[in-house]
Amino acid sequence: MPGKAEVIIGAQWGDEGKGRVVDALADRVDLVVRYQGGANAGHTVIVGKDKYIFHLLPSGMLYTGKTCVIGNGVVVDPEQLLTELKDLQDKGKDRARLVVSGAAHVVMPYHKVLDEAEERLRGKGRKIGTTHRGIGPCYADKVNRIGIRVEDLLDPEVLRMKLRQNLELKNLYLSRVCGVDPLPFDDLFHTALDWGKSIAPYVGDASRVVNEALDAGKGVLFEGAQGTLLDMDHGTYPYVTASTPVSAGACTGSGVSPTRIDRVLGVVKAYCTRVGEGPFPTEDKGELGERLREKGGEYGATTGRPRRCGWLDLVALRYAARVNGLTGMALTKLDVLTGLDEIQVAVGYELDGEVTEHFPGGGHRLDRVVPVYRSLPGWKEEIGGCRKVEDLPENARNYVRFLEDFSGVKALLIGVGPAREETILQGL
Ligand code: IMP
Repeated sequence: MPGKAEVIIGAQWGDEGKGRVVDALADRVDLVVRYQGGANAGHTVIVGKDKYIFHLLPSGMLYTGKTCVIGNGVVVDPEQLLTELKDLQDKGKDRARLVVSGAAHVVMPYHKVLDEAEERLRGKGRKIGTTHRGIGPCYADKVNRIGIRVEDLLDPEVLRMKLRQNLELKNLYLSRVCGVDPLPFDDLFHTALDWGKSIAPYVGDASRVVNEALDAGKGVLFEGAQGTLLDMDHGTYPYVTASTPVSAGACTGSGVSPTRIDRVLGVVKAYCTRVGEGPFPTEDKGELGERLREKGGEYGATTGRPRRCGWLDLVALRYAARVNGLTGMALTKLDVLTGLDEIQVAVGYELDGEVTEHFPGGGHRLDRVVPVYRSLPGWKEEIGGCRKVEDLPENARNYVRFLEDFSGVKALLIGVGPAREETILQGL
């Protein structure tokens, strides 16, 4: 009996609360798979009084008996991976089995140095605002066919040859173009060999593990990182990350066929946030933005940067529903809107004198749009205790219904507070 495969993606600019949604659903599946991105992600899970932030490990790691997979599409920073694993071991929470694809690429120290140096070189007004985690440079090497893969860490001769080839080029570029000190080969080689030894027990054929689990009738959750609008192809290019956060990335990033995916759940925050540079039509730089940031705790889980905040953008949500093929939506942080007299949502964009309901893509056109808002009445009642949609105040219910009608996607999960149990589940 084939199992159920569900992809969970961010429908906005990341930080929608995917970690929390995966955590809420992980209980009922056997595998949790990360398929793209790397330690630029920061998935926060709150269990009781404990808070866990996973950058690389799948959010299912807290569950006993699960298998967590890091697919070929992820870029693995071994130092970060080993730190997260040790942290779980120290807390006695290393309850899941971990499989890391040998085909995943390794973020090397020079990728991080390059990330920072290239941002500096871009200068004012042209920066992307990366997380400095080496993500772009690592994927660039992958595409350039010179990258080092996890499996290479296990073979000293291959590693020596690849590292030498890379370091020669990187050191030239670092010293002559970026004005940064070159990195010594020997240190790096031995560090990478040590990583290999520590990671070896986890390395496996991730595609086979996931497909065999599906064949055996097991449930699989694919945990997207970042969000649709940061997707390399479908996001606000060039202000994007270097991977494929949209649902299709789950297939290429884990070695699973599109025909095996049953459902795609889009995680949508009840308002919008963005970290880093790039267009954000509904951004509010005034009082409202400040209020959302404080009440919603909108500071980056990876970099601590304050997130830019603003009203929910339904034009972008409808676009995300299309490019991901959303079959459902998980609406998070609805409680953050509690207390507002009225809530606005963008239902169109004015671009060059015309109103459109279609997302224009491409960072430069989006820069020029002016959102057309619709105002909806707010609610004052606290909603943290609501466990059914019917428990919500009428105006909160109407807000949810408006989003569903406009996007054509039903809210199957609604987050009404930060804790695991502060969740309304309907039809999941
Ligand atoms: P990079 O992924 O570090 O190359 O950064 C590229 C862009 O994606 C920057 O605007 C980052 O702020 C953004 N970004 C990367 N990872 C995340 C994330 O997990 N949440 C939100 N934004 C992210």
